[in-house]
Amino acid sequence: MIGPGPVTPDGMPAEEPVLTLAHLSDTHLTPRGVPFNGLDPEAALDRALAVLRRAGDVGRGPDVVVVSGDLTDTGDPDAYRRLDDRIRPLAPRVVYATGNHDLRTVFHRELLGGAAAERTGPVLQVHRLPWSRIVVLDSTVPGGGHGRLDPTHLAELSDELAAPWPGGTVVVLHHAPLPPPSPLQTFFALERASRSALARVLAGTDTRIVLAGHQHLAASGTLAGIPVAVAGSTAVRTDPLAAPGHERSHAASSVNLVRLYADTVTVSVLPVDDAPEVFDLDPAECAAVIARYPVTPGPAGPPPGTSG
Ligand SMILES: [Fe+2]
Ligand SMILES: [Fe+2]
Repeated sequence: MIGPGPVTPDGMPAEEPVLTLAHLSDTHLTPRGVPFNGLDPEAALDRALAVLRRAGDVGRGPDVVVVSGDLTDTGDPDAYRRLDDRIRPLAPRVVYATGNHDLRTVFHRELLGGAAAERTGPVLQVHRLPWSRIVVLDSTVPGGGHGRLDPTHLAELSDELAAPWPGGTVVVLHHAPLPPPSPLQTFFALERASRSALARVLAGTDTRIVLAGHQHLAASGTLAGIPVAVAGSTAVRTDPLAAPGHERSHAASSVNLVRLYADTVTVSVLPVDDAPEVFDLDPAECAAVIARYPVTPGPAGPPPGTSG
């Protein structure tokens, strides 16, 4: 047995994230009984959430669930409530963003409440947590499918980010500030001017990662050198390799697992599928594997703080 828990090959303790977020997007819940592209989006959501419920059962549930817009397909108030009923039990904190398929006023009333419920313009949501600040933008254009960040909204963001926050900031918006993967996504993208303006606002701030959706495809990139992670839809997946000019989609789903460490951020894409289990080693079995690989000190010798 090698100590009370896993260690690195050079004898350092396992690294633990200071914050774990489950990032979902584009749930597209419809009024009861109404399909979404021929699919049942509620059943698809339940399959995705099963991934998180299983994690919770073994004490690995997320600290925060982020759902980055297109929560509903047509802004049905009951769909927001059904979504919240499912998501809320999964983590101590839940963060929602508006998407182009949401109705801003209904979203405000059903999910934000309070003074925000009366607002008709974009609301800058700021969640100040002990270990991170999560700032949510509204990139929607009422009546439109594309994304835009208006200057007043960006000014609010700039004011908020002027003072850094312990642990840094996670920025969430629906329309991904990355090149789109398909023809329709190209037309319905975040306007390039907004992408550039967002980059200018975020540059030099304590923003650690930008989380987005809308593309229905898990993707990653950078904006002003800051990591950007896009979560796929829980209902459908855009095919980025369809024939030129084609918009093709598959009934497939994924969930992103975003882990913030003291000095880095990792994003893992978890496909929602019925892949058969290959193995599940318990701690003793892991130790038995490790014991077969004795480690000798490297050229630099043992790490600081260790003996020998
Ligand atoms: Fe969507
Ligand atoms: Fe969208």
